Amino acid sequence: MKATYLEPAVGQYLLAHTARPDELLDALALETRELMGERANMQIAPDQGRFLTMIAQISAARNAVEVGTFTGYSSVCLARGLAPGGRLTCFDASEEWTAVARRYWEKAGVADRIELRLGPAEVRLRELTGGPPVDLAFIDADKPGYPVYYEILMSVLAPGGVILVDNTLWSGRVAHPNERDETTQVMREFNDLVMADPRSTSIMLPMADGLTMIRKH
Ligand SMILES: C[S@@+](CC[C@H](N)C(=O)[O-])C[C@H]1O[C@@H](n2cnc3c(N)ncnc32)[C@H](O)[C@@H]1O
Repeated sequence: MKATYLEPAVGQYLLAHTARPDELLDALALETRELMGERANMQIAPDQGRFLTMIAQISAARNAVEVGTFTGYSSVCLARGLAPGGRLTCFDASEEWTAVARRYWEKAGVADRIELRLGPAEVRLRELTGGPPVDLAFIDADKPGYPVYYEILMSVLAPGGVILVDNTLWSGRVAHPNERDETTQVMREFNDLVMADPRSTSIMLPMADGLTMIRKH
């Protein structure tokens, strides 16, 4: 489990009562750690992976989008929860990191339902305009890009569609006014923007580094 806002014993208990990742996800987490070292911390936590799969299942997502794929952990989790015939479109700037994701999509048997679009997400996400409405999206990329990604996704999201956003508690720093570094300010502004948006309703969950769930009216 990653950063948790629970006392350690409660966090351990929670993890012990959350379905474990399977061997494939464990192998992906291990390989990412071996290949990327500290950068592996960018990967979502196992409980978040479970959550993504469940949300995809519960929402019967048919057209899902991910912004920030890295080595593929969250995309495998999302793809596994899609409704039959569902599609996941992944956006990422790194060919190198997503090469690992592509391998795991094959191994997981979900490669046929995932399309990867490489390049700056701010540019490539706009290609979704005019296409089928998106019913589920997950944002987990560069933090300064969040407001633009949110805006583009809201414009293509179906009514009732959901956007999940990672790292919205930013290690808890957003809650402390004396924390004034640039990324903390960016996350605060993003969280305020979502709260003030009359087009949606949101809930911030203290899962991992903070996960906000936003539902478009
Ligand atoms: C936190 S990692 C994503 C982790 C991933 N969700 C997982 O579970 O492993 C952020 C990813 O965003 C990508 N990224 C950062 N800035 C980007 C941009 N401007 N456009 C597209 N992708 C970007 C990086 O290449 C990186 O793979």
